[in-house]
Amino acid sequence: MNIERISAASHLTKVIRDRDAGPSLFFGGLLRGWRERALLTQEQLAERAGLNVRTVRRMESGRLQQPRATSILLLAKALELDGEERAALAAVARGLPARPERDDLVVTVPRQLPAGVATLMGRGRELAALEGHESEDPAAVVAVDGMAGVGKTALALHAAHRLAPRFPDGQLFVDLHGHTRGTAPVDPAHALERVLRALGVAGARIPAHIDDRAALYRGVVADRRVLVVLDDAAGEDQVRPLLPASPTCRVIVTARQRLIGLDGTRTLSLDVLPVDEAVAVFTRTAGEKRVTDAPAGALRETAERCGRLPLALRIAAVRLRSHAAWSVRDLLERLNDDRLAELKAGRHSVTAALDLSYQRLPDDQRRAYRLLGSHTGTDFSAETAAAVLDTTVARSRRLLDHLMDVHLLQEPAPRRYRFHDLVRDHASQTVDRRA
Ligand SMILES: Nc1ncnc2c1ncn2[C@@H]1O[C@H](COP(=O)(O)OP(=O)(O)OP(=O)(O)O)[C@@H](O)[C@H]1O
Ligand SMILES: [Mg+2]
Repeated sequence: MNIERISAASHLTKVIRDRDAGPSLFFGGLLRGWRERALLTQEQLAERAGLNVRTVRRMESGRLQQPRATSILLLAKALELDGEERAALAAVARGLPARPERDDLVVTVPRQLPAGVATLMGRGRELAALEGHESEDPAAVVAVDGMAGVGKTALALHAAHRLAPRFPDGQLFVDLHGHTRGTAPVDPAHALERVLRALGVAGARIPAHIDDRAALYRGVVADRRVLVVLDDAAGEDQVRPLLPASPTCRVIVTARQRLIGLDGTRTLSLDVLPVDEAVAVFTRTAGEKRVTDAPAGALRETAERCGRLPLALRIAAVRLRSHAAWSVRDLLERLNDDRLAELKAGRHSVTAALDLSYQRLPDDQRRAYRLLGSHTGTDFSAETAAAVLDTTVARSRRLLDHLMDVHLLQEPAPRRYRFHDLVRDHASQTVDRRA
């Protein structure tokens, strides 16, 4: 379109002459000028902004005192105002000078990504999928799922840092606390309030109802290139209100369970690491010097004893590092003894991570988890499970499916079920502890 844009400065100078008529008219003049610049009628602007045409008319004529912050934001987007113009419009709406020092409506650019792991081992295929290299049409929402400690957050953050330059309007990070000891999963209404504030909406302008908050959020990020990381989701209902509707935004969700009920979402299930990458995670964390004398076989055995689970590998390596007298063999002996007891370091522990998954289960699944963990062989069928649980095969299948959905159980071959080694240890110990 061949529109000759009047610069913000010259238009501001023109409407400043109206200033004596009071802040409302001044605001109206500014709005009208920018509307005319965009070659829009009042009706067209109202439609673009999703506002009532009467509201636009009353604003321009100065009859509407104190226009709502959200309306101004919508108008600014509809008029394609740049940052300085938005600030000016928001300021005059509140009767302030056109160049405010700080304004509660100025759209801010959040940069919330926490630091990722220094060196991410492996995960090349998964990173390519997250970055959208694998397809012409990258999914707007990718949900990464996998068992506790498998590396979902590490992967999501690594991908997000790499994607960040493609999302210059901001990167949001929300820890939804699906599995945090002593903390309940975050209420999505509260999460929305936080992201709206981060996007520059003042607290007083945030609506009370969750649906209105979600609608405002979608409006604020529409057409903006924003990357959203929703970490450790407790479920689909918690995630849904936080999904933008705009194709200009991208979302990465991590969760311990599969989120198959979110429309338009691609899921990516994360497995434990291949043995070489597992050894690399262990070696890098322990420090090359601590493992130089260890035979390659011992390192691989250690990685296997940790179930090739990144969380376990890191904890085992920290244990080795903090005991100068231990060799890798000493560590391995301890892991062969009672590995869950050994896989604790500071506030990190494999047992604690799995406890949180277990505690989120309904009673019948807890019972199934405990009994199957203690009374089945390496892998087993639904029929065996039914016998152990003293129930029908159909019901045992349902229970097995649920345990698979939350990654406490695997299906290595059709209709064969298996626990990850560490999960089996945890399930059988839970029988005694009744956690
Ligand atoms: N590919 C990897 N290379 C190096 N370190 C990794 C890798 N994956 C995970 N880690 C490290 O392993 C630990 C566990 O990973 P992370 O916290 O990402 O797991 P998670 O799947 O998000 O667990 P949870 O379900 O508890 O949220 C972290 O210290 C992380 O930095
Ligand atoms: Mg995580």
